[in-house]
Amino acid sequence: GRIVASSVEQSYIMIKPDGVQRGLVGEIISRFENKGFLLKGLKLFQCPKDLAQEHYKDLKDKPFFPKLIEYITSGPVVCMAWEGDGVVASARKLIGATNPLQAEPGTIRGDLAVQTGRNVVHGSDSPDNGKREVTLWFKEGELCQWESVQTPWLI
Ligand code: TYD
Repeated sequence: GRIVASSVEQSYIMIKPDGVQRGLVGEIISRFENKGFLLKGLKLFQCPKDLAQEHYKDLKDKPFFPKLIEYITSGPVVCMAWEGDGVVASARKLIGATNPLQAEPGTIRGDLAVQTGRNVVHGSDSPDNGKREVTLWFKEGELCQWESVQTPWLI
């Protein structure tokens, strides 16, 4: 199979079913592309319940957990692995606060959402979780090894 492990930091970014249903896929992907991170994996995917539960296992005792699982499995999601130095923290900044009403304008949630329970996008909260989530959501062979064309600086 293809090489899947990477020594460079990766974040698992997911466009949630509301983002897909509202036609925001291109808009959201562009934010990460324009920032300059490297896309290593991308798929449209109907998430099964057990995977959603595993992904959000740290929240399983929260009162909103059943609704969260229902929401994440309610329609297709877009799964992405983005790579680059500092990508986890930077992606969290691009995404904005969990509650979109508290997310700054200019962030994805700040610009595109109004409800915590419909906040359009997920981003890993630590490099370790980035690794865990990329491995959880992508099979071997679904991630690509490639490099973007380097800007040919004049000086
Ligand atoms: P969390 O990991 O706290 O936030 P983030 O996605 O910003 O890392 O929570 C995971 C998701 O759970 C969150 O994106 C939306 C949902 N959620 C609720 O529905 N209600 C809540 O009160 C909280 C805190 C989260």
